[in-house]
Amino acid sequence: MKDAARRIIDAIGEGGRVAVMTGAGSSAESGVRTFRDRGGLWEDYSLEEVATSEAFATNPSRVHEFYNTRRAHLATVQPNDGHRALVRLESLFGDRFALITQHVDDLHERAGSRRVFHMHGELYKARCVECSDVVEWMGDISLDDGCRSCSGSMRPHIVWFGEVPFFMEEEIPDVCDGCAVFFSIGTSGTVYPAAGLASMVSLGGGLCVEINLETTPGSGIFELQIEGKAGERLPALLDELEALLKPEEAV
Ligand code: APR
Repeated sequence: MKDAARRIIDAIGEGGRVAVMTGAGSSAESGVRTFRDRGGLWEDYSLEEVATSEAFATNPSRVHEFYNTRRAHLATVQPNDGHRALVRLESLFGDRFALITQHVDDLHERAGSRRVFHMHGELYKARCVECSDVVEWMGDISLDDGCRSCSGSMRPHIVWFGEVPFFMEEEIPDVCDGCAVFFSIGTSGTVYPAAGLASMVSLGGGLCVEINLETTPGSGIFELQIEGKAGERLPALLDELEALLKPEEAV
């Protein structure tokens, strides 16, 4: 891990920026199901039936039930050591750090991360189908719930397949453009545009680092691969990074 940490510090240099992309695997150790692993959500549900605007138009109750179940489960889980390690990474680099996430859970925020871009939306928010007003929403959404502004019906504030992810117009390209180090953590890298961000960084000369239990279809783009659980590998990496950056505090 020491060698990996050294390469990362060298790539960041004096003023380099750090971007992190997380996927379902980084909440797996908290007990949140991934999508495509064995036991993943898409084994039990057809994504066409619960995660598309067509599904919501055809059978909104079923779509609400899927997200209501996930929202209720989210209240029962806690951030893990991987989430906490990313808070340490943010405190090392401050404004030069950004966390892009495919998670719709709030575990990064609960751990203490501050600059987080939820490109696939957030479970604890709902949006009006008519006027697009977005509100915090902790409980179930039902067909009877109406928008506080226009009484329109409410949908989960989730990016469904076929919809454009959030923050892709400006913030996420700005974060990735010219960034020195890009981490891809716990994602299969199969859903675009999230899966294309590492290539953008690599083309710009940045170092791409993958942390995953296994290799992924896009692993070839990552110059550095750290195999294992995010909740174990990230804290170990942060120990090394902190020791290199704050040598006077190292034991
Ligand atoms: N530590 C690190 N990686 C892990 C861990 C772990 N503890 N557990 C699982 N993984 C890895 C798996 O090896 C896999 O590569 O996490 C990845 C999970 O992949 P997916 O289930 O495909 O999740 P993700 O990449 O986030 O999916 C992307 O697809 O269905 C949509 O909108 C959904 O945002 C999601 C998107």
